[in-house]
Amino acid sequence: MYFSSLLSLVLLTAPLTTARTLHARADTRDLYKAYAGSSKTYPGITHMGASIEGVSVSSSGEVYAVNQTHLMNLNTGTALHTASKSDTKAYFASSRVLRSGEILLGDAGNKKVLKISKDGKVSADPFVANGKWLQPNDMTLSADEKHLYLSGMNWGENLGDAWYAGISDPKKPSHQQIPTKNAGLYRTNGIELDANEWKLYITSAQNSESKNTIATKVYSIFLNPETMKPADGETWNLELDFHAVDGLEKQKLLAADMDLDGMRIDIMGNMFSTLNAYNRVVRWNVNDKTDTTVIKLATVERPTNLEFGGKDGTTLVVVGKCKKNNPDASEEVEKTRACVDEIPVEFPGRAFYALKHGAKPNEKCKAGKRRARMV
Ligand SMILES: *[C@@H]1O[C@H](CO)[C@@H](O)[C@H](O)[C@H]1NC(C)=O
Repeated sequence: MYFSSLLSLVLLTAPLTTARTLHARADTRDLYKAYAGSSKTYPGITHMGASIEGVSVSSSGEVYAVNQTHLMNLNTGTALHTASKSDTKAYFASSRVLRSGEILLGDAGNKKVLKISKDGKVSADPFVANGKWLQPNDMTLSADEKHLYLSGMNWGENLGDAWYAGISDPKKPSHQQIPTKNAGLYRTNGIELDANEWKLYITSAQNSESKNTIATKVYSIFLNPETMKPADGETWNLELDFHAVDGLEKQKLLAADMDLDGMRIDIMGNMFSTLNAYNRVVRWNVNDKTDTTVIKLATVERPTNLEFGGKDGTTLVVVGKCKKNNPDASEEVEKTRACVDEIPVEFPGRAFYALKHGAKPNEKCKAGKRRARMV
């Protein structure tokens, strides 16, 4: 512990960590276009409300989302699981669909993950739980479905956490905290593996005393390929400092709730991050930070989460509160509805690919003109 905090102190003060991100520049031309998700495609969006988040995808490309009390298949409009009325602590915040069609459902309020069967029965409650977790708020799963990574936060304390859960033997899950305190990380939120599962990415937002968001960053940590956990002494590296990206409006980034929320990666290393109060999604290439694009949204305001869905996994589905489409409507009304946008993208998402192929893309994927080609 002492060693790792000393090491992170050195990292924090090393000019190298900021120099890496200096040349990031966001392309603000409308290279990607967001469309309103139609209520025919997503009948389940209608009543989800302001707490919508935790998007996941199934192997057929159907998209699921959660709100505080419901797990919903957005494409069918079926609520698969509902928290019991007496469970006042329930706060669903994340979901991941397995190859079997079962769904891992993250309950931040009860600090546990449940397993829900295809037809909505609770098959494990808890599936995995840990009283030391701050939440979990979001989670990501390895392609072999044996390793789960979870993030949580405590807003008031300006704190976050990251955890590993080994779930190859569901009867005996193993737990390991990946320390974020003393490593320059504050409120962690979005969490994702890179396409080849060499690294774990996590977002960090820092509050000022006056509750503005004074730092919005993404960090990564290398995983030991044998254990799929960070090796002893491994520390977080700064990947992208959004305040240092040219082309993003600096003043706006300093507003309250300017958090990176959900983030998901495609099989070629394009990470799509939701910037909550900026009302935008940012695509950044994890292999080349100069390759960054800002994407405006169509109907979603305050995007919380996103995932690649659709038949070939190339429709990025973004959820959040609705934009005020009627300027006369009271803010209150519009801000309690959930909306969904679709952004057509070039390459399928990592999670979709893993569900389809049961494997990581590895070097087998070559960038084609518009689609990845598997060799
Ligand atoms: C959550 O979603 C369900 C199903 O759509 C809905 O009935 C419920 O009102 C929503 N909760 C909130 C707080 O919006």
